[in-house]
Amino acid sequence: MDMLEIIKRRASCRGYQAEAIPDDVLERCLEAARWAPSACNQQPWRFIAVKDRELRERICGECFLPGVPMPWAKQAPVIIVLCSKKSMVTHFLAPLLSGINYHLLDLGIAGEHLVLEAQEQGLGSCWIGWIRPKKIKKLLGLPFDMTPVSLITLGYPLEPGQAGKRLGLDEIARVDRWD
Ligand SMILES: Cc1cc2nc3c(=O)[nH]c(=O)nc-3n(C[C@H](O)[C@H](O)[C@H](O)COP(=O)(O)O)c2cc1C
Repeated sequence: MDMLEIIKRRASCRGYQAEAIPDDVLERCLEAARWAPSACNQQPWRFIAVKDRELRERICGECFLPGVPMPWAKQAPVIIVLCSKKSMVTHFLAPLLSGINYHLLDLGIAGEHLVLEAQEQGLGSCWIGWIRPKKIKKLLGLPFDMTPVSLITLGYPLEPGQAGKRLGLDEIARVDRWD
């Protein structure tokens, strides 16, 4: 399928079938993320694919922030925990000069590679950023230098999705100057 068509068809999926994701399909999604670009090629991402039902239920029950109920998340047969693993120069020193958190850019790119491959494979996905990183870290026994920054639910969708509305190109892009 045409790349732009895949991009446009992706929509946050908030209802999943119970059907498991075959290992080779999951691996393709992770492989797509592996090929993402990153500042200084530091590849500051680590992925944990949580398949275990009890762990998924504990993530959904204990590790979301309050105020935004997400009951659909525990239907997803896989929850990807997207973690950062920062390096000294690129992720601590360089941001002091530029003010840019490169590792978060890199993780966003990698996560979206994963999500777009998931779309290509017929899976639905949803980013979940409304999380308690410290609780997830403890629950999954992550080492001190790995920090969860987002979750991505994955599974076969209950129904076809419809992406949220977008600003028009004329509102978000200009040529040469912003005026
Ligand atoms: C970094 C990030 C965090 C998000 N966190 C949540 C979340 O906690 N809960 C949720 O239901 N959706 C979450 N979303 C999904 C957005 O609400 C969704 O992408 C946006 O409304 C556009 O809709 P669409 O993805 O269907 O096009 C998140 C998306 C991103 C990129």
